[in-house]
Formats: sequence, C-alpha cells, structure tokens
Amino acid sequence: MSESSNTGQTFSPIEVKLEAGKDYYWCACGLSKSQPFCDGSHKNTAFTPKKFSVTENKTAWLCTCKKTDNAPYCDGTHRKL
Ligand code: FES
Repeated sequence: MSESSNTGQTFSPIEVKLEAGKDYYWCACGLSKSQPFCDGSHKNTAFTPKKFSVTENKTAWLCTCKKTDNAPYCDGTHRKL
C-alpha cells in the first residue's frame, strides 16, 4: 500500500492489530521511531500523541503522513501530498 506523494516522499499507512479496551497512543509529530505509535519523541515539540482505543479486536490501517482528517486512521490523504 506504499504510494509516492507529489513531493516525492513516500507515505504508507501501517496495518496494525488492535485489542479491545487497550489504550494506544498514535504519533502525531512524525518523529517516533515506533510508527505509527508514540515513543516520546514529541517532547520539545508542539505535538501531543492521540490516545485512542477500540471496542472490539480488529485490524486497522493507521496514518503515517500525519495529514489524515480521521486520526489515527488513514483516510487516503497521503495520496494527495
Ligand atoms: S498515511 Fe494515509 S492519510 Fe496519512
């Protein structure tokens, strides 16, 4: 599902398995080395991770371009960058 953007950068959503009731922290700054999840790299930036959870176990595609309008989920915006 990797696609090149108009700027030449390549963004790809990451498929993850999510467990019901577990708290997750989606990286909003793009600096995390543990994409798509926060690893604390946002410290000293204006960004904060987005906390989320799901109500049932499921597989989801999480955004890595950080431009989605449906964070933390990919909404296809990376194709327009
Ligand atoms: S990776 Fe698809 S909208 Fe960000």
